[in-house]
Amino acid sequence: MRHKKYQGWLLCLASLGLISFAHAVSPLREVAANNSHMMNHMSNRSSQNESEASTDEALQSVNPLQLPPLLESDSETPEEISYTIISQTGETNFKEGQATETMGYNGSYLGPIMKFRKGQRVTINLDNQLAEETTYHWHGLIVPADVDGGPHHPLASKSQTSISFDVNQEAATLWFHAHPHGKTARQVYNGLAGMIYIEDENSDSLDLPKEYGINDFPVILQERYFDENNQFNYDEVMNLDGTKGDTPLVNGTIQPYIEVNAEWIRLRLVNGSNGKNYELALSDGAEFYQIASDGGFLDAPVAMESLTISPGERAEILVDAQAYAQGEEIFLMDKKKAMLGIRVSGEAAAEVKALPESLNQLPATGQVANPDVRTISMEGIGHMVTLNGRKFDMDYIDFSVKQGSTEIWEVTNNVDMMPGMIHPFHVHGVQFRVLDRDGNPPPANEEGWKDTILVKPGETVRIEISFPVPGLFMLHCHILEHEESGMMGQFMVE
Ligand code: C2O
Ligand code: CU
Ligand code: CU
Repeated sequence: MRHKKYQGWLLCLASLGLISFAHAVSPLREVAANNSHMMNHMSNRSSQNESEASTDEALQSVNPLQLPPLLESDSETPEEISYTIISQTGETNFKEGQATETMGYNGSYLGPIMKFRKGQRVTINLDNQLAEETTYHWHGLIVPADVDGGPHHPLASKSQTSISFDVNQEAATLWFHAHPHGKTARQVYNGLAGMIYIEDENSDSLDLPKEYGINDFPVILQERYFDENNQFNYDEVMNLDGTKGDTPLVNGTIQPYIEVNAEWIRLRLVNGSNGKNYELALSDGAEFYQIASDGGFLDAPVAMESLTISPGERAEILVDAQAYAQGEEIFLMDKKKAMLGIRVSGEAAAEVKALPESLNQLPATGQVANPDVRTISMEGIGHMVTLNGRKFDMDYIDFSVKQGSTEIWEVTNNVDMMPGMIHPFHVHGVQFRVLDRDGNPPPANEEGWKDTILVKPGETVRIEISFPVPGLFMLHCHILEHEESGMMGQFMVE
């Protein structure tokens, strides 16, 4: 019944030439994935294509969460640090049977964590051992365009280069990933993504969980399809509206768990999926606290029962494991799917600890008189995606802004012609602030620094944005296949 309805949509769209027929007859799982967008749009209720596994079946953890290594520096002083990042292919054992052919940084899948300190001069030696070109994009890092690693700066196969920049931004959880023109989505799906932690005096002084792998965990959320030989086969499962999967992975681990003491647990979440939005909650419905958004700490912890995180976004959350008895396990859930088991196996702390009341002092928004206002629209699905009515063209610069200036951007998800879906809007070389969503103040967890925001169908999000570093930067939907199909533009900061 639902499928019929969907095919009806497809036929009507196809006959209008809005989507290609090849897309319409793509594999069933893609249909199911697309169907959920459609159903969300049409009935505003959650998809019925999600696995309806009973709660008991779904709540299982099997494998200890893999922790990416903390990358050892090549050299380090308080003022300077240098790292080497190697893009390579490899084989990864995600599950029983054949190993999966993957890509990774300094390893077979995903990458290590790079730590920078605010004020440090960073040098990164880049080595591309892939059989194809790639780039190294530091998502969320405010660095000049020539070292930002966007599509304009490919590094050819089997070659090396070195870049340097200053870290001038506050403590934050960022990430990095490949961004070569036309190849981003496949390279990221195959594994080219890693994390960056920036620390500073404020993060040093805050009484928060900071012991890596003990009470402070990186959590890269993804999902993948595995074929009968355990391969990803990106080209076959590719979905123009965001390639998904039926197997959730956290840091490349299937059905992962962490073992923790009864204390506050910090999860540094990255949505590293090509196109999936996660709707996160704890299995027992307990509150958790968001302490940081994309670009740094919020002013204060925000109590939440659920968090939607779209591709490219990060959030740091604290889970209060003090509330559980030894031997209990709760789960970080995505709707009905368990993403991560949290097993309380250690001793309870002697006394119950509260959270810091204040984490940061974010500057007030709205302090700039008469900022220029610019409208940005994202539109379409499938092949038909555009940004400001155009498809990305390397040779076309959408607009220029003045370095150091502040503007207001009205970012619209335009659904005039087509069924809509969420577009995660991302800008390079900046951290911005959300002013309002359709005229309403943002929720408290969106009041901090952002570089990626989800924009719902028909919605307009106004952001306040300044441009501290010069050069040619990208703005795009972070559904990687949308970016690849042209929902991307570029602007010059000069
Ligand atoms: Cu996370 Cu243009 O990228
Ligand atoms: Cu980016
Ligand atoms: Cu999009």
